[in-house]
Amino acid sequence: MKIVNVALKENSYRIVIGQHILPRLGQALKGLNIGRDALIITSRVIRRHHGAALASSLKENGFCVKFFEVPDGEQSKSVKTAFSLIERIACYDCGRQSFIVAFGGGVIGDLAGYVAAVYKRGVPYIQVPTTFLAQIDSAIGGKTAIDLVAGKNLVGAFYQPRIVWSDVAVLATLDKRQMRNGLAEAVKYGMIADSKLFTDIARHYQELIERRLGVLESVVIQCSRIKTAIVTKDERETQGIRTILNFGHTVGHAIEAAGDYRRYHHGEAVALGMRVAAAISYQRGMLGNKDLDALNRLLSDIGLPQKIKGLSVADIIAVMRHDKKFKGGKNRFVLAQKIGQVKIVTEIPPSVIRYAIHRYMD
Ligand SMILES: NC(=O)c1ccc[n+]([C@@H]2O[C@H](COP(=O)([O-])OP(=O)(O)OC[C@H]3O[C@@H](n4cnc5c(N)ncnc54)[C@H](O)[C@@H]3O)[C@@H](O)[C@H]2O)c1
Ligand SMILES: [Zn+2]
Repeated sequence: MKIVNVALKENSYRIVIGQHILPRLGQALKGLNIGRDALIITSRVIRRHHGAALASSLKENGFCVKFFEVPDGEQSKSVKTAFSLIERIACYDCGRQSFIVAFGGGVIGDLAGYVAAVYKRGVPYIQVPTTFLAQIDSAIGGKTAIDLVAGKNLVGAFYQPRIVWSDVAVLATLDKRQMRNGLAEAVKYGMIADSKLFTDIARHYQELIERRLGVLESVVIQCSRIKTAIVTKDERETQGIRTILNFGHTVGHAIEAAGDYRRYHHGEAVALGMRVAAAISYQRGMLGNKDLDALNRLLSDIGLPQKIKGLSVADIIAVMRHDKKFKGGKNRFVLAQKIGQVKIVTEIPPSVIRYAIHRYMD
């Protein structure tokens, strides 16, 4: 079991990472003075696989447990789901000392975190992430959100959990596409901050996809440390320090949106976005051929998409034009200098972006 401390001005907390540690959560919560009634927000699938282990750990340590299920998928990050959930919680909550448990992937984490942030102007919550992506990314940093028809994550709050409990053993029930999806973000951390992590993933990607707990734990620890180091320097995203986390995301988001969030999972779109960002970096003489090839090879080895399918360059550029980062033609890209180091560059000529996207069209 490893602890990564998230040291903030107020509301510091711990990320606890380990193998088969779900049964120890209840004991750890006793010391947090967090309340007595656990309101667990989850989905049916996650509850079926791991709900009993969570519930017994909490009950054995004197907590009352109540599950609130929401449907699977991004559509649950909606105003409708969030507020019907809040109504259900309010009916149950009367006279209790409640705290919220976000028990799921990034969708549940963002939704439950948002509900915790706004219900009664904020109740305590904890993150128990159950996808690889959530363990290395979405459960860390305190960003909570729901979507509007007009766009993803448009309503939200910065709201920090009291603890993050990442048990890599729960990833055993995740499907391989979801594992690959999360691995794209792990490769991103290697690219922006840590060449050793990149090499570790390149060496062990097969074992990671097969869910070998030792390597999984090691990668979750490394990624959690990197994200924590970045977000603690820029808790509310006001300093621009968090921007490097967007490596591969400018074009990645556009690919995701142009495919109506159905064609590609987030990590798959980010993998394509990283290929494009690296191609731009190479074209501008910032990144060497060897590192460009190493990135492309690793993404292909993992089984992440190599080509953009079913979309046109124009579809992707059209979405990017609507991106607030692109207003007035002043785009901003996170480009790679070498594996483990990136730089923020503004005003890349549109022809360069178009050419780089073109290279990866099917
Ligand atoms: N807040 C942030 O900083 C941040 C960062 C990155 C992504 N996000 C958000 O995260 C979301 C994506 O998260 P995700 O990739 O985890 O997807 P997800 O939450 O939709 O989970 C993917 C699927 O895996 C299933 N699942 C989860 N855990 C499981 C388990 N242990 N066993 C079997 N099945 C399991 C879920 O039921 C779901 O169908 C997006 O909404 C994105 O906006 C937020
Ligand atoms: Zn991402």
